[in-house]
Amino acid sequence: MQQRTIGGRSVSAIGLGGMPMSIEGRPDDARAIATIHAALDAGVTLIDTADSYHRDANEVGHNEDLIARALRSYGAGADEVLVATKGGHLRPGDGSWTQNGDPAYLARAAKESARRLGVDAIGLYQFHRPDPSVPYADSIGAIRDLLDEGAIVMAGISNASVAQIDEAREILGGRLVSVQNQFSPAFRSSLGELEHCAALGIAFLPWSPLGGIRSAKDLADRHGAFQEVADETGASVHQVALAWELALAPVVIPIPGASRPESIRDSAAAAELELTAEQIARLSA
Ligand SMILES: NC(=O)c1ccc[n+]([C@@H]2O[C@H](COP(=O)([O-])OP(=O)(O)OC[C@H]3O[C@@H](n4cnc5c(N)ncnc54)[C@H](OP(=O)(O)O)[C@@H]3O)[C@@H](O)[C@H]2O)c1
Repeated sequence: MQQRTIGGRSVSAIGLGGMPMSIEGRPDDARAIATIHAALDAGVTLIDTADSYHRDANEVGHNEDLIARALRSYGAGADEVLVATKGGHLRPGDGSWTQNGDPAYLARAAKESARRLGVDAIGLYQFHRPDPSVPYADSIGAIRDLLDEGAIVMAGISNASVAQIDEAREILGGRLVSVQNQFSPAFRSSLGELEHCAALGIAFLPWSPLGGIRSAKDLADRHGAFQEVADETGASVHQVALAWELALAPVVIPIPGASRPESIRDSAAAAELELTAEQIARLSA
């Protein structure tokens, strides 16, 4: 599999997003484990998760626990696979998502995530979403403290504007290694952040890179140009979307979600799909 880098660490150009395996509509445990193992078989060495990827209020960390078990049963350690988790989002159990960017909360949440993942230090810890009730600098200050203590190895942010990327860089300096924002054929408004990351050499992880759990199946219907290029290349429309994202900048590392082995196998193969400059321009138009 093609490799890209996050903070100097080499990872597969396509990661696995863990969310569909833990929220509403999730598969049973056996299928979830088989999906993670299929990703590893395909050469995926980046798995994205969060403590808030769960369904009911009493199962915080469901996805982190699942990934830790899958890695253990596969025999893969933290040196081989980078598990990127996040803190700062919560799910009270009624389907909603809330925020908590309080520094003391983030410090506790990171330690709980490390315990569930079975590591002394989290490979990549991302502040999940700015909390409007807490100054951004205070939340990022908590991430800096986690780095200083050695509780996390690398730091990232998510759902951040260009101004917030710059603010985080002022606090973390070169230790800010990744930005995870929504980006897909349907959602392109974070192109500015993608380009900013490309200029700074910071990894950009598009979330919902296929349009999201519910919409991924409609990619061909909603985005005719992507189906056209799929027909031209013999690739799936999902592979075309991921290959297009990879082509936008060398810092881009999409993290398509999956709850079936065949989905992540298909997505992983997108790393080897080369599009022509003309095809990329058509998809970008
Ligand atoms: N930072 C944030 O705020 C944030 C927000 C949302 C998501 N995320 C992260 O981003 C990841 C990806 O986003 P997402 O899961 O919401 O949406 P997505 O990746 O756009 O779509 C996921 C869905 O696409 C289907 N799929 C994946 N690869 C496919 C393929 N090659 N062919 C056909 N179908 C395919 C999967 O179906 P099956 O389920 O049938 O396999 C899956 O349910 C999440 O898992 C999560 O880790 C982060």
